[in-house]
Amino acid sequence: MVARVLGVCLAVTATVCLLATVPAAQDSGQKVYEDKCQRCHGDNGQGIHNTDSTLYVYPPLWGPHSYTTGAGLYRISRFAGYIKDNMPWGASYSAPQLTDEEAWDIAAFVNTQPRPVKLFHKDWPDVSAKPIDYPVGPYADGFSEQQHKYGPFEPIRQKRQAMLARLKNSDRQKDQNNRK
Ligand code: HEC
Repeated sequence: MVARVLGVCLAVTATVCLLATVPAAQDSGQKVYEDKCQRCHGDNGQGIHNTDSTLYVYPPLWGPHSYTTGAGLYRISRFAGYIKDNMPWGASYSAPQLTDEEAWDIAAFVNTQPRPVKLFHKDWPDVSAKPIDYPVGPYADGFSEQQHKYGPFEPIRQKRQAMLARLKNSDRQKDQNNRK
């Protein structure tokens, strides 16, 4: 199999770089999940209880008891960064067991599954300040929720930079006009 090129790193979150030029792929993510995660987190993401069902030995990754859409893990960069450094159980920052690409693809697969919905619209009064992979719109840059969720991120980053530059320019112009 030919690895998809990840392109340039946009920003580093934990040890993974944001997917620059290709979106994360849920299909490949599902395969890696079945291979490397399912034995602990379940074939339906339900996790595994201890024998008297009082607590989870392995936490659920989707379904009614999993983390919510308001959790940090619901951001693809956070999920990918966390699992690259910690999963499968036994992996670490210095001894990762997933490639960046695998981490992104699993993140896309898992974060597409159903989970409790919790939205914090008021967290971002200034929508232009939302992180690039913040999974819930609206956005100031005109890109879709789909692209903010799975990438590719490079076109969004470029547009945001251009918007920022325009803004700075018009501020400068206003300053000059005010001084006249
Ligand atoms: C050998 C068992 C095992 C395997 C295999 C495993 N995990 Fe885990 N996973 C755990 C345990 C145990 C925890 C709880 C860790 C803790 O609380 O510190 C966990 C926690 C997590 C969490 C945090 C969930 C939350 O709600 O906080 C995520 C995400 C996760 N695992 C993803 C994965 C992915 C993706 C894979 C496959 C690449 C994987 N795990 C493979 C045992 C495993």
